[in-house]
Amino acid sequence: MSCVVIIGTQWGDEGKAKMIDYFSAGADIIVRYQGGANAGHTVVTGGVKHVFHLIPSGILHPDKVCVIGNGVVLDPEQLLEEVDAIEKQGIEVGSRLFISDAAHLILPYHKLFDELVEESRADRIGTTKRGIGPAYSDKALRIGIRVGDVLNDEYLAERLACGLSMKNRQLAQMYDRAPFDSAKILDQVRNFRDRMKGNIINTQYYLHRAVLQKKKILLEGAQGVALDIDHGTYPFVTSSNTTIGGALTGTGLSPFNIDKIIGITKAYVTRVGEGPFPTEDEGDDGARLREKGGEFGSTTGRPRRCGWFDMEIMRYSKRVNGLTSLALTKLDVLSGFKKIKVAAGYEIDGRRLEYFPSSMHHRIRPVYEELDGWDEDISACRSFEALPLNARSYVDYIRKTLDIPISIVSVGPDRENTFILE
Ligand code: GDP
Ligand code: IMO
Ligand code: MG
Repeated sequence: MSCVVIIGTQWGDEGKAKMIDYFSAGADIIVRYQGGANAGHTVVTGGVKHVFHLIPSGILHPDKVCVIGNGVVLDPEQLLEEVDAIEKQGIEVGSRLFISDAAHLILPYHKLFDELVEESRADRIGTTKRGIGPAYSDKALRIGIRVGDVLNDEYLAERLACGLSMKNRQLAQMYDRAPFDSAKILDQVRNFRDRMKGNIINTQYYLHRAVLQKKKILLEGAQGVALDIDHGTYPFVTSSNTTIGGALTGTGLSPFNIDKIIGITKAYVTRVGEGPFPTEDEGDDGARLREKGGEFGSTTGRPRRCGWFDMEIMRYSKRVNGLTSLALTKLDVLSGFKKIKVAAGYEIDGRRLEYFPSSMHHRIRPVYEELDGWDEDISACRSFEALPLNARSYVDYIRKTLDIPISIVSVGPDRENTFILE
């Protein structure tokens, strides 16, 4: 491996962090490249659960360097909280974490606007209220504040005055809200600077040098394909590119630096927040998947909507990302289902669709096939051969239908509950 990208292939929460932690053992550098603290990435080692929102999920390996790339929107308070929490557990972060000077900051007004915009719109997205949309909007409007700006006090005050005056006017005129005090925000940002200034670098240059030095780099995606701002179920998406393009723009690496693109794929599908979900099961089976899979948001605690494996979204994921293999997670959760449903494709008004549509406001009907389930607890299985016959058939069915290797299978939350397939 020299440069491997990990991408969520569904609506997020596929178990990416578990896989990042797993692959980190063979990497030198782990890089988060998009999104922000909307992500909730869970790693379980030796029965202890760690949830990361901003810090790359490789941080638990004490000899690895972690990088927050330019494509991330970074909440400085959240980052400090996470660093403190990790260090409290005896894991040193210190100089092992580099932060891009070109990443944009999420400030308190972004989080407030996230709430206000949600409350005032008819088609609520169900955002995580972490300020993601407002921060990426400011980036696009060119009124954002970047991490590197905090290093020069005068420039920082200038940048904040420019952005905040606009925000305070909007708050007063549109929402009848009190203005933010720029001195308070400056204090908060200076606190972040005083603690992290030694970690702020040009990560784009750092990563290019790492490539030349033949370092092994693991790129950690957040969210999943169907939440991509361009390729997802718009408007019910996040505000970044969660597909392969985001890995490039969010780091500054070139497409030719990438060797492998691994799609992390849950053995069923979940979604948190509003928006279309063709294979959602709102009955007993969905409730059972939620309970067995512990499907409650790692960031917000909201119950995740649950449903069946969807080949159409997977074909789309493979195509739009150029996936080289899949890692199949949470296969253990399917134990005990007599029948397992899989959507082979979609229909609209009785007509089969040939692709994942750009818009889902029309009624999409999944066309299901049913496979036989298995009863055995498979969490102790450490090889394909050890799986019950019907579990093997399920994995084979996915692999053959999508014509893609399945490189890893995960059968439980712990690092140990994993085996290599191809
Ligand atoms: P991410 O956002 O893609 O990193 O995924 P999350 O951490 O939000 O959610 C995945 C959840 O499933 C976490 O609670 C993981 O500990 C758990 N998990 C990951 N892989 C497996 C698995 O193979 N089996 C089971 N039962 N749980 C898993
Ligand atoms: P990880 O990395 C699942 C969803 C939210 C909402 C939509 C927009 O843990 O897989 P946002 O706060 O980004 O503006 O919310 O996107 N969402 C996620 N769903 N996993 C995530 O991250 C998500 N990050 C955002 O629920 O529907
Ligand atoms: Mg998650």
